[in-house]
Amino acid sequence: QTMILSGELGRHPVQFFTSTGSTNDLALILSNTGAPDGTLIVADNQTAGRGRLAGRIWLSPPGTGLYFSLILRPRLSPEDFPKLTLAAGLALCKALEGHSHCQPGLKWPNDIFLHGKKCGGILTETQAVSGAGQTAVVIGIGLNVNIPAEAFTGELRSKATSLLAETGIPHDRGPLLAAILAELDLAVARLEQGDFPAILTEWRQRDIHAGHQVSWGNTQGKIITGISLGPDDEGFLHIRDNQGRIHSVISGDISLAQE
Ligand code: BTN
Repeated sequence: QTMILSGELGRHPVQFFTSTGSTNDLALILSNTGAPDGTLIVADNQTAGRGRLAGRIWLSPPGTGLYFSLILRPRLSPEDFPKLTLAAGLALCKALEGHSHCQPGLKWPNDIFLHGKKCGGILTETQAVSGAGQTAVVIGIGLNVNIPAEAFTGELRSKATSLLAETGIPHDRGPLLAAILAELDLAVARLEQGDFPAILTEWRQRDIHAGHQVSWGNTQGKIITGISLGPDDEGFLHIRDNQGRIHSVISGDISLAQE
C-alpha cells in the first residue's frame, strides 16, 4: 500500500491510500502507534475490506465508493462503545439526507439502506493502546457511492445498492466524506455529553425493521422469530417473540421474516 496524500480535513489528520487491504486494519495498527484522536484513514480501493460478521467481505472497487476508518479516543466508558455504532449510523443517514437529498433507513445495528437494499455498513472495533491503559475505537465505514446498478449481480442484485443506483446521480466523494465527518463529530460529541436518548429518538425514526417480523439466530444457533421493537435505551435490540417474551439481542444478524 502507498500513502499518496496526507493532510487535514477540518480537525482530522487524514492519510489517503490508493489501495490497502482494509482501512480498519491500518487504523487499528496506527491507533496503537500514536495516531492522534480524529485521525482518518481513507482508501480508494480495499483488497480485503471486512464486514462485521466473521468471514464477510466488503467489496471495495476503486473509483466508486467511500472506504474509511476514523480513529477515536472517545471520553466514554467501554460499555458505551457499542452506542458509537448506532450514533455513526445516524450520522451517515443525516449526511446523506442533507447532502444527497435521499431518505436512507437504518437496520440494527450497523446497516444503511436505500429503498430496501443495503448501501453502507459500519464496522466498529476497539484497540487497547499498549502501555497507555487506554482504548482507541476505530469506526470503519463503507458506502457504495457511484457503483452502477449493473455491477450488483447474482444474489447482490436484490440485496445491495449504491447512491448512484438509487438517485441516478453520481456523487462527488470528497464533499460527501466531509459532510459525513461533520455529522460523525456531532454524533460523538452528543454521546460524550450523555445525549444517547436523543440519538436513539432520531435512530428509531429511521428504523426499517421496527414493527416488522424479524428472525435471528440466538447464541445456541436457534432461529427465533418475533416483532422487532427497535433498540432499547442501551442500544440493544428488543424483539417480542410469538409467546410474548422479550429478547434483548446484543449482536448478530437480523433478517426480515417471511410475513
Ligand atoms: C458491515 O456491513 O458488515 C460492515 C462493513 C464495513 C465496511 C468498512 S469499509 C472501510 C472499513 N474497512 C473495512 O475493512 N471495513 C470497513
